Amino acid sequence: MKTNNIILGIESSCDETAVAIVKNGTEVLANVVSSQIESHKQFGGVVPEIASRQHVEQITIVLEEAFELSAVTWDDIDAIAVTEGPGLIGALLVGINAAKALAFAKDKPLIPVHHIAGHIYANRIEKEFEFPLLSLIVSGGHTELVYMEDHDTYELVGETLDDAAGEAFDKIARSLQLPYPGGPHIDRLAHEGEDVYNFPRAWLEGTYDFSFSGLKSAVINFIHNQKQRGEKIVVENIAASFQASVVEVLAEKTYRAALEKNVKQVIVAGGVAANRGLRTALSERFQQTDIPLLIPPIHLCTDNAVMIAAVGAVLYEKKHFASWDLNGKASLFLT
Ligand code: KG4
Ligand code: ZN
Repeated sequence: MKTNNIILGIESSCDETAVAIVKNGTEVLANVVSSQIESHKQFGGVVPEIASRQHVEQITIVLEEAFELSAVTWDDIDAIAVTEGPGLIGALLVGINAAKALAFAKDKPLIPVHHIAGHIYANRIEKEFEFPLLSLIVSGGHTELVYMEDHDTYELVGETLDDAAGEAFDKIARSLQLPYPGGPHIDRLAHEGEDVYNFPRAWLEGTYDFSFSGLKSAVINFIHNQKQRGEKIVVENIAASFQASVVEVLAEKTYRAALEKNVKQVIVAGGVAANRGLRTALSERFQQTDIPLLIPPIHLCTDNAVMIAAVGAVLYEKKHFASWDLNGKASLFLT
């Protein structure tokens, strides 16, 4: 799809306040992300109330920085795209109210964007989409396989029935007393250990759905039992065994779905796409096929506003605009 626009993107659905300016859906003119990780670390997870307040503190600073970096002016901006949901409602509302106020004051169209569509479109910065494609979205809040026949059409092929992959990583990390967010720590330790415990894999045969709560309980019980028996906990091996279980199911189901759907591209998105074990497993799987695998660079895997502006570019061409009563939606289907 050829586009000709400059979109300002705003993302505030969780613990990153982000503003970006993107040309034609693919060219990044500015990408500013203010992360709150340090503030939430001491609580072992995102505290919604703190997140909302920090978004309020950060949003204008981040916005100004994006304009300084890009050297574009308000006259150059065609529209403002903002994450409508899903996410923490108080956090979403900060970005939405900022976007509405700016759109009203500067007389620009307002574009509502689904956060997961954003994660998918982060890949378009690197390489143009070829349809049909399959996307694996793995983040702190999501684990989904989404099939796309064209721009802005989404079919949910599979999803998690309980915990998201990133959430499972964070919970296991917490039970091993590792800092938040735990995914990168598990990833690092996993490379120093081995899959010796062979934790369960939830195959949920006949579906492309996922489940991580059984695995999570199995690992937590295992740690608990080891402690009770006074046995030494080999953190590296627990990390490696847990990661192997998550990665094997994610990679295998993505592979099977890609073959069944006969797709031209497979793309991976979301924070867990940074996982080295997952990257390796998927690369090995798809090397045996002629289906190209796209994984965005790490700074585009985690939450950012480039991805929101990238979706905004497509919706702008379709004139998919929001009215002034746009509201944040804690849960929102991708349709
Ligand atoms: O996409 P994201 O930044 O935020 C959400 O929308 O959720 O994803 C954050 C999640 C966290 O759960 C974090 O632990 C996980 O991504 N994560 C990782 C890695 N890096 C980040 N999980 C496993 N391995 C990693 N290297
Ligand atoms: Zn996200």
